[in-house]
Formats: sequence, C-alpha cells, structure tokens
Amino acid sequence: MSDAKAAPEVAIGIDIGGSGIKGAPVALNAGTFAATRVRLLTPTPATPDAVAEVVAQVWEQVGVDGPLGVTIPGVVRDGVVETAANIDRGWIGVNAVDLFTKATGRAVGVVNDADAAGIAEMKYGAGRDRAGVVVMLTLGTGIGSAVFVDGTLVPNTELGHLPLHHMDAEEWAAESVRERENLSWKHYAHRLQSYLELVERLLWPQLIVIGGGVSKKSEKFLPHLTLRTEVVPAQLHNDAGIVGAALLAP
Ligand code: BGC
Repeated sequence: MSDAKAAPEVAIGIDIGGSGIKGAPVALNAGTFAATRVRLLTPTPATPDAVAEVVAQVWEQVGVDGPLGVTIPGVVRDGVVETAANIDRGWIGVNAVDLFTKATGRAVGVVNDADAAGIAEMKYGAGRDRAGVVVMLTLGTGIGSAVFVDGTLVPNTELGHLPLHHMDAEEWAAESVRERENLSWKHYAHRLQSYLELVERLLWPQLIVIGGGVSKKSEKFLPHLTLRTEVVPAQLHNDAGIVGAALLAP
C-alpha cells in the first residue's frame, strides 16, 4: 500500500482584479471550470482586509471544498506582497498567505496574477508543449508578464514596468490606455509594436503569448504587428488567472 496522497481532481482558483474578484472550481485534468464562476465587486478602497473579506465570500459562494489558490496583481515573494502599482498601497509588506488563510480558514497559495495566467496557458493553452523561452503578457488595467524557460516559471518578472518612451511600458501600451485615450486598433498596435520589440530585444523568446481581455480581439491588432518572434493570442482569455491559481493551490 502506498501512502502517497491522491492528486486532487478539483481545486479552487480566485482571481483578484481591479473591478471584480472572481472564483471557480477548476477541473485539473482539463483546465476548465467545474461549475459556474462567482464574481463579486472588488471593494473600494481595496485594502487588504476589505479584499480578504470578499475573497472569503467568493470562496463560500463557490461552495466546493478543495485546495485554494489566489492571485494578486503585484509581486508576491514568499507569500508577501512587495509592490502595488495598480492596487491599494496598503498591500505592500502584507503576508497575503496568512491573510487569506485566516479569512477562509484553509491553506491558501498566493501568486502574481500574470504568473497564474501564464501557468494556465502553458499547461492548457497557447504555450502547451512549447520549449525554450516563452513570454506571456497580459494586457489589462496594467501589463503583467510571465516568463518560462522550458516550461519552468521565472516568477515576478514585471515586464509591464520596463521603461518605454520615458514612462512605464504599461502606461503606454496597456489595454486600459487604449480605452481611456480612445485609440484606434491600428494606433494601439503601433504602441504594442514598440513595446513588444523591447521585450524581444531583452529576452529573444521563442514565443510571445498575448493574454488579458484583448486576447479575444486579437484579429484587430495582431495583423498590424511585425515582430521577428512568433506572437499568438492566449486561449484561456480571462479564465486563465482562475485556472492558474487553482493549479498552484497547495
Ligand atoms: C503589476 C503586476 C501585474 C500586472 C497585471 C502590474 O501593474 O505590477 O504585478 O501582474 O499589473 O495586473
């Protein structure tokens, strides 16, 4: 008789975003939702305690027991949030693993949101079976990144904060900037071109995967890009964060 624990079939992922906190049970053999997704509004201000309370509500409403993983849109090192570009400054220095463990009453894993999305794409989506250096970029309120070397994640790469045109790259090329400045898709593609060239020159990846909400509209900007690197849209779109969080649940 072996005393190895059987791998769980379902884990729960919760993705903390600027406007919504979304969670679902994920069937780990397929990377798909095993039940309908729950979405509650992100509280304002999104302080750690207020967010933890909503995370606990999402967890309860998902109503499925199993390992739990949570994403944070900032650097997470050893469970501690280190940066807060697009979230409440009160997060800096907070041990998010302790916070969510207390709020939900179970063991929790916490990971950067783009790293979670990248892990999901590598396992179930556009990066499946891709060796070498793969870069996933999520275009949303900010720009998130996940870098893989032969399938292994180098966490917290934060390529959205590379300097570009005297600002943070995410202030130049995030999807929220396209919306706010009402840029045409062609104009936005032009901005993406200069950002992706920068990433290309830095890492010379074999593949760049574009994720976030815009991955559903890739036909509007991909044809305008001329990179020497293969660029493809993500396949899990906005579900990737939840799926990746579930994959990393302890
Ligand atoms: C944050 C990253 C995050 C990205 C997407 C950036 O501003 O620094 O940690 O992954 O936004 O949410």
